[in-house]
Formats: sequence, C-alpha cells, structure tokens
Amino acid sequence: MSLAVQIDQNGGPEVMKLVDVQVGEPGPGEIRIRHKAIGLNFIDVYQRSGLYQLPMPLKLGMEASGVVEAVGEGVTHLKVGDRAAYASQPPGSYCEVRVMPAKCVCKLPDAISFETGAAMMLKGLTAQYLLRRTLPVEGLEKGDFVLFHAAAGGVGLIACQWAKALGLRLIGTAGSDAKCQLARDNGAEFCINYSSEDFAARVKEITGGAGVKVVYDSVGKDTWDKSLDCLRPFGLMASFGNASGAVPPFAPGMLGNKGSLYVTRQTLFSHITTRERTQAMADELFDVVLSGKVKIHIDQTFPLAQVQDAHRALEARKTTGCTVLTL
Ligand SMILES: NC(=O)c1ccc[n+]([C@@H]2O[C@H](COP(=O)([O-])OP(=O)(O)OC[C@H]3O[C@@H](n4cnc5c(N)ncnc54)[C@H](OP(=O)(O)O)[C@@H]3O)[C@@H](O)[C@H]2O)c1
Repeated sequence: MSLAVQIDQNGGPEVMKLVDVQVGEPGPGEIRIRHKAIGLNFIDVYQRSGLYQLPMPLKLGMEASGVVEAVGEGVTHLKVGDRAAYASQPPGSYCEVRVMPAKCVCKLPDAISFETGAAMMLKGLTAQYLLRRTLPVEGLEKGDFVLFHAAAGGVGLIACQWAKALGLRLIGTAGSDAKCQLARDNGAEFCINYSSEDFAARVKEITGGAGVKVVYDSVGKDTWDKSLDCLRPFGLMASFGNASGAVPPFAPGMLGNKGSLYVTRQTLFSHITTRERTQAMADELFDVVLSGKVKIHIDQTFPLAQVQDAHRALEARKTTGCTVLTL
C-alpha cells in the first residue's frame, strides 16, 4: 500500500486528497520505486486545475527520487537497491511508492542527495533542452544575449547558472526586486522586475537596440506580446509554459513584420522519448551539478500531507528556486 495524492475533478488546491492505493509488481519495462523525496512543478498545477486535461481520477506529480525496490522484465539499466531519480510520465509521483515505466528513471550519482535529485530532474532537464537544444537558426555563441522569464523560479535559477557556464549573457525577469537580486546572484547578468518595469524597453536598452537571439518564455499570456518585441531579426521565441495563462491564438503574419521571427512551443516530454536520449540529457545535467557550475536551490520543503499549501505557495508566486515534498 502507498499514500498517494489523487484528484477526482479539476479545481483549486483543495481538490487534492491523500488516498491509500495498492501497489503491485512491475511488469515488462517497469520498476517499483520507494520515494525519498518528491519534486513540485508548475505542470502539476496545470494538471490539477484542468489547463492540461487528463482522465480522472488522476494521480499528480512528475518528478521524484528514491530507491529501486523491484525491476520488471527487460529493464537492464537499473537493479534493486539503486538510488534513482526521474522526470517522467505518467503523473503519479506524489506518493510513497509506485510502479512506473523505467525508461526515464536514471541512476542518481552518489554525490547527489535524494532531495536534490527530486528537485532537479524535471527542471534541470528542461534547462538542458532549452539552452542546449532549443536554439535560433544562427545558433548561440558565447557573449550572445538571451532573455529568460521567471528567472528566480525552479527552472529559472538553474538556467541562470547554466547559461553563465555556457558564456551566454542572460537577461532575466522576475516579479520582485528580491527575486531579481537572487537571479543576479545566480548568474543572470541583468534582471528586470517586470512587475514595475517595461521589460521590452529595458531589453532594448541593455542590448543597445539590437534585441536578443532567444526569448525563453514560460510565463505565457502576460509576457507573449512584449517578448516578441525583445527579439532581433530571425530571433527565436521559445515558449515553454503558461504560468500566467495560455497564450491566445495569433496571426503568423506579424512574425514577418517583427523581423522574420521563429516561434516554437517546447515540452520536455518530446525530448525524453527514448532511454538513450534521456540518459544523455541527464548525464549533462549531472555533470554541471557535480562540477558545482549549477547549484540546486531547494528554497521550500513541505511534508507530502501539506501538498495543498505547496501548490498555494507556488501559484501565489511566493516560492523561489525548487520546492520539495518530503516523506
Ligand atoms: N514545457 C516544458 O517542458 C516545461 C518543463 C518545466 C517547466 N515548464 C514551465 O516553466 C515554468 C517554470 O516552472 P517551475 O516549476 O520552475 O515554476 P517556477 O518558475 O518556480 O514558478 C513559476 C513562476 O512563474 C512566475 N509567474 C509569472 N506570472 C505568474 C502568474 N500569473 N502566476 C504564477 N506564477 C507566475 C512567478 O515568478 P515571478 O514572481 O518572478 O514572476 C512564479 O514563481 C512554468 O511555467 C512551467 O510550466 C515547462
């Protein structure tokens, strides 16, 4: 048996309930993992609220770490007793123990704690595919400017540090002066408080009128229009989230008027479709963390039983860095 967080209908944090569930044996390609820590992500909010529609009843959570308890037929990269961590579908990581596909579960290096492993997989693999694989047509070189929204958040603080390690000049945005300071302390060369400043005007000023090569935008509705104005010709608008709401439909003709811009909507789950690709991305993430170039900031922890409070804090923009649910 395991305690697990389940919803029977979409709604606010109050729809999340702890239930007892039966946990069986892993089938082919599956493992059973006993969690040590669980990562909180904004995608959990979209799945709970119904912005992303999934069948009910629904177990929540996409990220965790733990110890492998049982291994199904055909799984060769993990064995019983391994420390492991993952970002993976299907949702259901908000629990003590679960059976799940092994494909996206990676062995966790000994020097990385369970808490850090749980905090960093979904957010760190996202920073990896954005900065390393979601590039403008002309590529990114040392010294290039990029704009990264919500720079003091979970994905944001990892991206600030990783971009600096790659030699990129990251301009962050965040919702308060304190959050901006945190982003700068973690490698953002500039950080604009978009609650009080016109970020498009500031980006133009910082880049001497040229604009940035890429905007990485997870805020969505509130930042979309102005983000397009931050790009230089042939620049890339990389949309990857909707923290403020989904981006409304737009007419592609305006991309021509703004300098033949490119637009993409990225999701981690297109990148981690195979075991090999997932492991290659995770290896890069483990390297930057083990080298100390990227530190994983766990700025909030909540017991699993207080998951409603964790969601409230995340949605109210009261968190910075990563949040972990403890067991
Ligand atoms: N597509 C993918 O593959 C993928 C993977 C991982 C994450 N994501 C997206 O990346 C973003 C960051 O994820 P995360 O888990 O690390 O969350 P997070 O950045 O820690 O939290 C979201 C942040 O968004 C900002 N925000 C702006 N407007 C907001 C609003 N109206 N309501 C709430 N927050 C608002 C807030 O920062 P400020 O107060 O500084 O504005 C908030 O702290 C999310 O949008 C998430 O969906 C996408």
